[in-house]
Amino acid sequence: MKTAIVYHSAGGNTKALAEAIFSFLPEAKLFGIKDFDLSTISQYEGLLVGTYTWGDGDLPAKIVPLYEEIEVAQVPHLVTGVFGTGETNYNHFCGAVNRFRDMLFANTQLAVTLKIEQVYQDSDLYRIKKFTEIYKTKLTAQQNKFENKAIL
Ligand SMILES: Cc1cc2nc3c(=O)[nH]c(=O)nc-3n(C[C@H](O)[C@H](O)[C@H](O)COP(=O)(O)O)c2cc1C
Repeated sequence: MKTAIVYHSAGGNTKALAEAIFSFLPEAKLFGIKDFDLSTISQYEGLLVGTYTWGDGDLPAKIVPLYEEIEVAQVPHLVTGVFGTGETNYNHFCGAVNRFRDMLFANTQLAVTLKIEQVYQDSDLYRIKKFTEIYKTKLTAQQNKFENKAIL
């Protein structure tokens, strides 16, 4: 299994963004957080996490188990990205994306992040596509690293 896209969305903004990302990565598997089995993380080569932001720049409660699982799963070779929606009129725009970004940087091969104001617009599609391209480049580089090691 290669890529899992796992998102949490209360009102649909982050779900729509996850689906747009999925449209550029049709070989991936797309999961709402409640349908994703945390014990399968290490079976993937890549993981893209999507979240909205709650409270004062906080993670929504339902995405916290995924955050905590990645911290303990020992997946330093996992290529990751994080995306999310928020609102710039809050003090910490997409604060949950920042929190995931810092944790993923410490524990995985973080490739890319993406923050979108509420509902993505057609004008955001180039950034969404770029997000997936940067992710794919890093995933390919990581796969080559392993293959070269096997040959040597
Ligand atoms: C109580 C509450 C707190 C929020 N806090 C933040 C915040 O701190 N930072 C931010 O960028 N957005 C914040 N938001 C905005 C949501 O993250 C934003 O509307 C998001 O697009 C919702 O995504 P969803 O439709 O996928 O649930 C907050 C929204 C609510 C209702």
